[in-house]
Amino acid sequence: MKRIGVLTGGGDCPGLNAVIRAVVRASIQYEWDIVGIRNGWKGLIDGEIELLTDYAVSGILPKGGTILGSSRTNPYKNAEDLQKVKDNLKRFGIDALVAIGGDDTLGVAMKLNEEGIPVVGVPKTIDNDLSGTDYTFGFDTAISIVTEAIDRLHTTAESHHRVIVVEVMGRHAGWIATMAGIAGGADEILIPEVPFDIGEVCTHLKARYDKGKNFSIVVVAEGAKPKEGGMVVTQSDEKDEFGHVRLGGIAHSLSREIKNRLNVDTRVTILGHVQRGGTPSAHDRVLATRFGVKAVELIRDGNFGMMAALQGDDIVPVTLEEAVSASKTVKMELYDIAKIFFGR
Ligand code: F6P
Repeated sequence: MKRIGVLTGGGDCPGLNAVIRAVVRASIQYEWDIVGIRNGWKGLIDGEIELLTDYAVSGILPKGGTILGSSRTNPYKNAEDLQKVKDNLKRFGIDALVAIGGDDTLGVAMKLNEEGIPVVGVPKTIDNDLSGTDYTFGFDTAISIVTEAIDRLHTTAESHHRVIVVEVMGRHAGWIATMAGIAGGADEILIPEVPFDIGEVCTHLKARYDKGKNFSIVVVAEGAKPKEGGMVVTQSDEKDEFGHVRLGGIAHSLSREIKNRLNVDTRVTILGHVQRGGTPSAHDRVLATRFGVKAVELIRDGNFGMMAALQGDDIVPVTLEEAVSASKTVKMELYDIAKIFFGR
């Protein structure tokens, strides 16, 4: 009899509960026990563990967020917490772990596996910036939310002849801004991968005004920055346990610059955590379910230190090292397609 622990770490997103449900349902066929670890790695430090039965996951597939809770706790921040993780794995008789998370959570999973603790990973983040997988679950839902927001902002921007600057999530990669910007017909898309020239942005927007299109939608990723430096805006100087500052607010700086340079009316919408809330899309429900089933198969086959990944239409194992090696940034041929529509 195996006992499998499952945890969800980092920023939450729609689809997490679909993974948890799949892990439990797929494990039952092997007559394994499944325990839920509360609040990511914090739950293993504090010993917050609960049995997950078939009944416990009934009805959670469409539910946003995670029934287990999440955190940005890093057990490698000190030796005492790391030892507590190892002690609690023994204390609760956990034979293997399913870690559902982004680069921070899976980075911890990789280190634990290197220390001999059997771990498999499932790629989660609305940012879609994990290497080794074409998509992470949560991303499709987020771009659907942002696309709908852009559609709605189009009508009010047009009615009031305004430039509306929409700030979306995406710390190191501008996948949400690029894909939702294309889907929503944005007139400018600014991403961390391509430092922007505010003068060029304003030239694009002015070109639209000059031909009578007296409104524009500018989509900017929270991690975007100008070529000349500065303007990377943070919410506070405090850093989380993985060293990340809280980004947010660049849209206001952009809006002021556009207003001052073009003498046009501007407004700002920062979508924030709306992008991470609510029920998962059908695509994310299926992808999350497939990832959860694959994670159980990896454990069944003793294939530890691996992550379930989407490549093409197939769910395949990739190493956790590959997954966390570097942020997967936006393909420039995709961004080049978006640029065709700037200033038109
Ligand atoms: O990592 C996903 C993410 O949503 C980022 O896009 C965003 O910058 C960050 O999490 C926000 O983190 P928190 O919810 O801790 O403020």
